[in-house]
Amino acid sequence: MSNVIEFLATRRSVTAKTMQVGRVNPKHLEQILTAGIRVPDHGALKPWKLVVINGEARARLDHDVIHAEFIAANPDAKPEVEAIEAGRLQRADVVIAVISSPVEHPTIDPWEMQLSAGAVCTTLLYAAQSFGYAAQWLTEWYAYNDRMLTELGGTPGHDRIAGFIYIGEKVKPPMERTRPDPATVISRL
Ligand SMILES: Cc1cc2nc3c(=O)[nH]c(=O)nc-3n(C[C@H](O)[C@H](O)[C@H](O)COP(=O)(O)O)c2cc1C
Repeated sequence: MSNVIEFLATRRSVTAKTMQVGRVNPKHLEQILTAGIRVPDHGALKPWKLVVINGEARARLDHDVIHAEFIAANPDAKPEVEAIEAGRLQRADVVIAVISSPVEHPTIDPWEMQLSAGAVCTTLLYAAQSFGYAAQWLTEWYAYNDRMLTELGGTPGHDRIAGFIYIGEKVKPPMERTRPDPATVISRL
């Protein structure tokens, strides 16, 4: 088996909840980003944008956007719940936001552009995991929050957050999760 197929057959996400912040090597991050934008993209339209959130930007967005928006919607939240919202992005060393940003095109359907944004997320995730980092693709509620989208440079009503790729340190190997029985999802003609 080649290393690549072995990696694909065994890789697993490590949840943001269980990863340590650690430190993502800046050179690795550049390689992860380069791989992440090398994806199938019908018409080479580049219908996505990536925003790297690290350093102090994590705490700023946690405080000014995630926590603030959460409290505005849930003024009676318990302190322990509030604390989770105040530290979402700080669970990882780096979080890459992927924004699906379809462009006008006479024949290529926006659906294909959204799929390409998903491919960016998957490739970023796999690239990070290939270096041995803990990584997870999350949306959580704030991927659907207009203020968060605006802060990331997106336009509500047009752009959508495809995901946040959390990258941190793996402190213990994740347990395998249920995988589909191939016979239930694959048919052959
Ligand atoms: C678009 C998308 C959004 C997701 N959002 C969440 C989320 O908000 N919360 C969560 O617990 N898991 C979420 N997940 C699932 C996690 O990434 C999960 O860890 C993953 O499915 C594990 O799969 P793997 O081990 O094959 O990488 C999401 C997955 C996808 C594809």
